[in-house]
Amino acid sequence: MTVRVVLGTQWGDEGKGKAIDVFAEEYDFVARYNGGNNAGHTIVNEYGTFKIHLVPSGVFNPKITAIIGGGVVMDPSVLVKEIEELQAAGIKLDGRFFISPRSHLIMPYHRELDGLYEAAKGAGATGTTKRGIGPVFADKVSYNGIRWNDFADLSVLDERLSVQMDMKNKIMVALGGEAMDYDQVRDEYLGYYEKVKPFIKEVFPMVRGGLDAGKNFLLEQANGSLLDTDWGTYPFVTASTTLVSAATAGLGVPPREIDSVIGIAKAYTTRVGGGPLPTEIFDDEYAISVLSEIAATTGRTRRAGWFDSEVTRFAAQVNGVTQIFLTKLDILSAFDEIKICTGYELDGKEVHYYDIDAYQLGRVKPVLKTVPGWKSDITGVRDYADLPQAAKYYVDVVEELLEVPVGWVSLGPEREALVER
Ligand code: GDP
Ligand code: IMO
Ligand code: MG
Repeated sequence: MTVRVVLGTQWGDEGKGKAIDVFAEEYDFVARYNGGNNAGHTIVNEYGTFKIHLVPSGVFNPKITAIIGGGVVMDPSVLVKEIEELQAAGIKLDGRFFISPRSHLIMPYHRELDGLYEAAKGAGATGTTKRGIGPVFADKVSYNGIRWNDFADLSVLDERLSVQMDMKNKIMVALGGEAMDYDQVRDEYLGYYEKVKPFIKEVFPMVRGGLDAGKNFLLEQANGSLLDTDWGTYPFVTASTTLVSAATAGLGVPPREIDSVIGIAKAYTTRVGGGPLPTEIFDDEYAISVLSEIAATTGRTRRAGWFDSEVTRFAAQVNGVTQIFLTKLDILSAFDEIKICTGYELDGKEVHYYDIDAYQLGRVKPVLKTVPGWKSDITGVRDYADLPQAAKYYVDVVEELLEVPVGWVSLGPEREALVER
């Protein structure tokens, strides 16, 4: 039996979807345990290119059972669309895809409130995905959430939802928004429930039974470690725990059963939305054009910076990362020289990520080491030994700074664009 957690060690979009799709072949179960449809995981394989937000990325292995744990929040409109898209692509979900009835639903008022809060904060906005993530998690922990469970008895749903909509309508109107119609929201969500119902099932017996039977589990994080509510760059974070520990609350897997934690790290750094990005590049148009990406969920442009070993090492430490899966090394082929951040200085003194808050982090000066580039196409390399010397040196430097072995290097979006180390 093996229980492997795959998590991002930066601010999201490290390439978790690709890594999960690669690993899935050897696993019996794949499960999402945190976050919601703020996530966008890209998978490029024989079925095509997918940007999936809720269904676990390992679903493409027909032998795997895919689970969305109770720690995940979901917008049913996104879920239904995703299920239909996957089925249209030939992915069979019946009898092998399950959603915990404990999972909380993003309601239309959560999306609306997300936008109203962001607008009220103006220049200090978080830069959320506007998917309603903050408001739905706030409702979850303040006992105001709506779960799939509530749909099993319509009298329970009506009682709970009507109270919520009375409260939310008052808040939305006070903040300059519009009240929503109860019957319209109720009917819309009952429609989703009918479509999703075949997949809703308590997952604990499946998880516990699988663990007891020695099955292999792949646990998929969303959002990235530096967006964790507690250890991320608060208040520029997401609204749930993204760390390895969330797998226990979000899925029911005891911590001691987890035997490997794979940290996905992009060979440089990107961030979508607000908040500090210490290695962000402002003065090099060429580097910005090469490293910027388009976000999988919102279509926004991802901000770009050099590899930041200070935050990534912290993420590795706080999660107990056992091996690094380094992605997008091929993108760095465009440079004569590459910079790597080895630490920070604040007002002339050395500081660590955990010593300072997000506002101080916004003022640090990254200490940058320059290493030679390799300036050749490495996307077709399939044997680590065949990488150019400078590319191998880059991986060595990353590994030394992170103090964790690099086990895989990804050289393109496709499943096979990978070398094992
Ligand atoms: P996730 O949220 O962590 O799953 O990452 P995203 O899918 O949001 O963003 C990662 C992007 O990088 C996607 O467009 C992937 O297809 C792409 N990608 C992943 N690994 C590699 C790689 O090694 N090289 C290149 N060029 N692209 C990659
Ligand atoms: P994946 O799983 C990148 C960011 C948002 C914003 C902040 C709060 O694809 O790596 P939220 O909507 O969660 O309230 O927004 O968190 N964010 C992500 N950035 N990748 C993600 O997921 C993200 N999930 C949330 O951009 O800055
Ligand atoms: Mg993403």
